[in-house]
This record gives sequence, structure tokens and C-alpha cells, in this order.
Amino acid sequence: MNDLIKELEDIVGAQHVQTTGDLGRFEEDWRKRAKGKALAVVSPKNTFEVCEIVKACLRTKVSIVPQGGNTSMVVGAIPNDTGTQVLLSLTRMNQVRSIDKDNLTIIVEAGCVLQQVQQVAEREGFLFPLSLGSQGSCTIGGNLSTNAGGTQVVRYGNARELCLGLEVVTASGDVWHGLSGLRKDNTGYDLRNLYIGSEGTLGIITAATLKLYPLPAAKLTAWAAAPNIESAVKLLGLAHKTLGPSLSGFEMMGQFALSLVDKHFPQLNVPLWKNSAYCVLLEASDNESEEHARSQFENLMQTALEDEIITDAVIAESIAQAKALWLIRENITMAQATEGLNIKHDISIPVSRIADFVESTDNLITQKIKGAAIVNFGHLGDGNLHYNVQAPVGVDYKDFLRIHEHDINTLVYDSVKEFGGSISAEHGVGSLKVDTLKDYKDPTALNLMRTIKLALDPTNLMNPGRLINDQYSR
Ligand code: FAD
Ligand code: MLT
Ligand code: ZN
Repeated sequence: MNDLIKELEDIVGAQHVQTTGDLGRFEEDWRKRAKGKALAVVSPKNTFEVCEIVKACLRTKVSIVPQGGNTSMVVGAIPNDTGTQVLLSLTRMNQVRSIDKDNLTIIVEAGCVLQQVQQVAEREGFLFPLSLGSQGSCTIGGNLSTNAGGTQVVRYGNARELCLGLEVVTASGDVWHGLSGLRKDNTGYDLRNLYIGSEGTLGIITAATLKLYPLPAAKLTAWAAAPNIESAVKLLGLAHKTLGPSLSGFEMMGQFALSLVDKHFPQLNVPLWKNSAYCVLLEASDNESEEHARSQFENLMQTALEDEIITDAVIAESIAQAKALWLIRENITMAQATEGLNIKHDISIPVSRIADFVESTDNLITQKIKGAAIVNFGHLGDGNLHYNVQAPVGVDYKDFLRIHEHDINTLVYDSVKEFGGSISAEHGVGSLKVDTLKDYKDPTALNLMRTIKLALDPTNLMNPGRLINDQYSR
């Protein structure tokens, strides 16, 4: 192994190969569910160096774990605990390569932090719409490898829909130069979409061509109280009808989720939550004007109040107020982390069946574990819930997870299956859900996935054990 370390040092410079010291931020996952041990953390500066690293690892049969911001929710980006894997950190590859204003595209390197890309786009007068609570640390490479969702999907789609081209270092150390910013290209298999969402198991994304949009003329945000989830779904239908394509965000937050924000971040002043089972955060991005957006939004709220779909609502009067409302939503994850680990689910259900799913699954859980609390929130506009189960008051969360995690996962995922949903809507599979996936994914689809993995990464060099782990041994 010393020969490999020496070779890696020759490729990237000794200061960019870490084998000792504090490697915790690379080796432990964001939720602190797992800790691994890397043979070395290697940080290349360009695509050529990535190719050379892959070739060196291939020769020595040392597997590679690509990592961006290490904000994975499914333990996807840390090494295993054997101390035999190279952790490839993309964070030094953080250049914006170019902007094409007529083509509405930007080419960025994989290690660019999402917020940096949003800011560069805005300075140039454009919008890059992907938005996640982790945007200050997650990277474009990670976003594409997980096909991240977030809070603007209802209008702009997932990361996949925002990407027109990729540059990828394959598992054999070749470069696929696929950065074309074409919106139409029917010349064969869709390689771009194969790498997007592949969680580092097929190759390393080194750069991407992303779509830009004109900045909206106005953005409006509202917060509404809904008595139950059926009403929240009705409000979504009404918002689609009233706002049309201007509807850019539709988030739902259950009372218990908001109580955690109120408990841990009282300074955020959560509105309307005490007397309402659910609150909804809506956003409209209007291409006409502030007046147009506001009159549409006021119509929507007026109708929803008259029809008793909602019981109360506030429309943000300033950008600062809108940001304050979004901060509440974005801090649910941190409030949960402060409270202690819970059993986390990131599921999608057809919007039309969500209310029945929640009623039925809530009942099953509370019958099984008296006092279990459900932290239910998420991207209702996309049919995506973060449906998390928390220990009853007084029960240690570690004991709760040890005793109940498997059974609760089975209960929730069986219910997801019954209602026609998916066990991973946006966070991916990583190692947390890899064993579960085979029980819920169509077997033919799984076989096709194995075939693709074998074809593109025949020696299982790339992030082994993530996404699919039972395909072959080395
Ligand atoms: P990492 O965590 O470093 O890696 C994620 C996966 O991608 C791993 O499998 C890794 O091996 C692979 N990978 C990383 N970079 C590359 C590359 N260049 N080439 C190949 N493979 C690579 N996710 C959502 O979808 N929606 C949300 O709303 C959302 N909100 C979040 C809020 C918080 C507070 C946190 C902590 C996380 C949230 N996430 C969300 C999850 C996470 O931020 C996303 O999955 C994000 O896309 C991961 O980016 P990253 O750079 O941190 O990737
Ligand atoms: C969110 O929507 O806030 C994220 O996906 C993170 C989470 O599920 O906690
Ligand atoms: Zn989410």
C-alpha cells in the first residue's frame, strides 16, 4: 500500500494526500450514524489527476469512495471501516469553467458548492434553481450523483432535470467528455442519466453543464395553517390551478416537526403551529411583476380560507420575512439532529394517496409503539415526505433505534409499497438502504442495474457496497 500512497502523492502533491491527523470530517457521515476509516484522503485539483488516481487504484485493486460535501443522509460518501479504501474528495475541483448566456447554461466543476453556483448565476442575472437545506456545503457532484431534490422541484425538477451534460472519469480511468449543452441529442443511450443518481458507483463526475433560468421578476412566500393532510393536498391542487407554472415551492410541516424547531430554535418564531395539525409553506416565482404575483397569491389564500381548506395564513411582506419563514422549514433537520437520532424515511407516494397513507401508517406505528412521535414534513408538492419516527418521551434514542429500527422500516416500507410509492425519493440508497432495496425494487430493474454496474465497473472499484451490494464479489 505504501507504493500506492507514494504514487498518489506524485499525482496530486503530498500535501493533498492525507493518511493521518483529523480525518473525522471525511470519515463520519453527517447524521453521525457511521464512522469509517480511509486508507488515504486524496484531493485532486483537475480531471487529469482524477484519471491518474483511478488508474493507480485500478492497478492496485483499491476501491474508491467519491465524496463532495459529505452531507449524504444515507451513509453514501464515507469509507467503510476496513482502512483499505481511498476517499476521493472533489472539493478542490471548484472552478466555474464558463457561462453561456445565450444557451442559458453554466459549466461547473463537481466540487463547486451548490450555494456558490447559485450566487455566481445570480451575479450574472440568472437563476440556478436547485435549493436544499445543505446548500452551503453540498457540491454539484454530490447533487448529481444523488439526483438531489429539494424545495424547488415542483417547478424546476430534480437535479437530473437541471443538467444537460457531464464530464465523467470512468472506472477504467478514461474521460467521457459529455459536457455539451445540447437540449436535443438523440444519438444513443442516455449516459448522462445513467451517471446521474448512480451514487458514485459507476464513475466520478468531474464537471457538469447546468441549466440556467431568467431570474423571476418577483418571489412571494406564504405560510398557511391546514387542519389535516387532506386540506394540505387540496391547497396544493388549488395552488396549481391559481398559480399555474408560477408555483415554485410547496412544503408541508406536521405539528410535531414544528414543535421541535420551536423547542430548539425559539428565536425563529414559528407561526400558527400551536393550533394546527399541519402548516404549509408556499412560494410563487412570477415572471411578470410583484403586483401580479401578490394578487394571484391573495386570491389563492382568500379562496382557501373561504372554502375552509385552511384556517389561517400569512403572506410575507418583505424578502426578510420570506427568508425567516424558509429558515423555519430548513431547520427541521437540524432540530431533529439536536433532539437525537430518529428512524428516518424519505419516501414518495402519489399525491392523491398521501392522506390515506399517512392516516393508515400513523395508526400502525402508534399501535405498535405507544408514545412514538412522527416527525412528518417534506416536499408535498412532489409527493415526497420525510416521515420519521421518534422515540417516546423518556426512551433513549439509541435503544429505540436498536430495538425498533428494523421493524419500523419494514412497517413503513410495506405501507409505501401498498400505496404505490418509493422507499427513497431524493436522498438515495447509500449503505443505509442497500439491503432493504432488494425487497422493494422490481427484480427485473435490479437485475438490469447489476448488469449496468458490471459493464461499467467490472472490478467493483467505485463505491462498492452502495446502492447495490449483492451483485458479485471481487
Ligand atoms: P456527498 O454526501 O459527499 O455524496 C453523496 C453521494 O454522491 C455519495 O454516494 C458519494 O460517493 C457520491 N458522490 C459525491 N460526489 C461525487 C462525484 N463527484 N462523482 C461521483 N459520485 C459522487 N437532499 C435532497 O435531495 N433534498 C433535500 O432537501 C436535502 N436537504 C438536506 C438538508 C440537510 C441539512 C442535509 C445535511 C442534507 C440534505 N440533503 C438533501 C441530502 C444531501 O445534502 C444531498 O444528497 C446532496 O446532494 C449531497 O451532496 P454532497 O456533495 O454532500 O454529496
Ligand atoms: C429536507 O427536506 O429538509 C431534507 O431532505 C433533509 C431531511 O430529510 O432531514
Ligand atoms: Zn427533503
